[in-house]
Amino acid sequence: MESPFKADILKGKVGLITGGGSGIGFEISTQLGKHGASIAIMGRRKHVLQAAVSALQSLGIHAVGFEGDVRKQEDAKRVIESTFKHFGHIDILVNAAAGNFLVPAEDLSTNGFRTVMDIDSVGTFTMCREALEYLKKGGRGRNSQSGGSILNISATLHYTASWYQIHVSAAKAAVDSITRNLALEWGTDYDIRVNGIAPGPIADTPGLSKLAPDEITIKAREHLPSYKIGDKWDIAMSAIYLVSDAGKFVNGTTLVVDGGHWLSHHRR
Ligand code: HXC
Repeated sequence: MESPFKADILKGKVGLITGGGSGIGFEISTQLGKHGASIAIMGRRKHVLQAAVSALQSLGIHAVGFEGDVRKQEDAKRVIESTFKHFGHIDILVNAAAGNFLVPAEDLSTNGFRTVMDIDSVGTFTMCREALEYLKKGGRGRNSQSGGSILNISATLHYTASWYQIHVSAAKAAVDSITRNLALEWGTDYDIRVNGIAPGPIADTPGLSKLAPDEITIKAREHLPSYKIGDKWDIAMSAIYLVSDAGKFVNGTTLVVDGGHWLSHHRR
C-alpha cells in the first residue's frame, strides 16, 4: 500500500532497529528506509541479518546489519558504537527484538520467565541506556536542534490478562513503564521522545503464527466481532508518525494499533 507520508520525511536520519531482520522489525526498517532514513539492524541470526540487509539495499536504502543479542550489554554497546561509526550519528532507536512462546504458568520455569523478561524488558532498557549519549541533543556526532527518538514495541495482552503468556505480559508491562519513565526523564532533560506501539494481531509475523495458530484465529473471528488482523504496514506507518516530526509533541505514550481488538476480552 502506498505511504501517506512524504518520501523524505526521515531524510538524513539514522535508525537502529533491534530485531530489525524479521517480522514487524523488518517492516519498520523497510519503511523508515523508504522514507529517507539510513538503517542499522541488530539481530542474533547472521543469515537473517544478511538477507534483510540485501533486501533493504535492493530498495536503495543505506543499510547495515550488526550481529548481537540485546540480552548482552557488551553486544548492545558494540552495536550502538558500530552504528555511530558507520553513519556518524544515531537519531532513532527502535526496540523490536522480542521472545515468546505459549506455556501455562504452572509449566513455566523461572528461567523461561526470566528469558523473556531479559529479551523484552531488560534488553529494551539496556539498548536505551547505551544509546542515550548518541541520542542527546548535541550528542556525540550530532548537530541537531532536538534530541532523538526511541520507539518500543509492546503489546496489549497485559491490559487485561492472557492465557499462557504470563512471561510476555509481565515483560511488556515493564516495557510500557520503561517508555513512560524514560519519556519523563529524558524528554525533560534531553528533548528525547520515547514512545511505544502496541500491535494487535498482525499477519505474517512470528507472533501471530506462534501465539495464534489458525484454529485460534478462526475461533476468535467467530466469537469476537472486533477481531481483525492488521498488516505490518499498519505498524510501520504508526512508527513513522511517532519517530518523525509528525509526532513531535507526542512523548511517553504507547499507541495501540489493533483495529480496536483489545477492547474485547482475550479468550482462551
Ligand atoms: C516452555 C520454554 C519454551 C517453551 C523456551 N523455554 N521455550 N519453556 N515452553 N516453548 C524455556 C526453556 O526451557 C529455558 O528454561 C528458557 O526458556 C530459555 O530457553 P532457551 O531455549 O535456552 O532460550 P533461547 O535459545 O535464548 O531462546 C529464546 C526464546 C526463543 C524466547 C525461548 O523462543 C526465541 O528466541 N524465539 C525467537 C524470537 C521470537 O519468538 N519472536 C517472536 C516474538 S512475538 P529452562 O528452565 O529449561 O532452562 C511477540 C509478540 C508478543 O513478541 C505479543 C503478542 C500478543
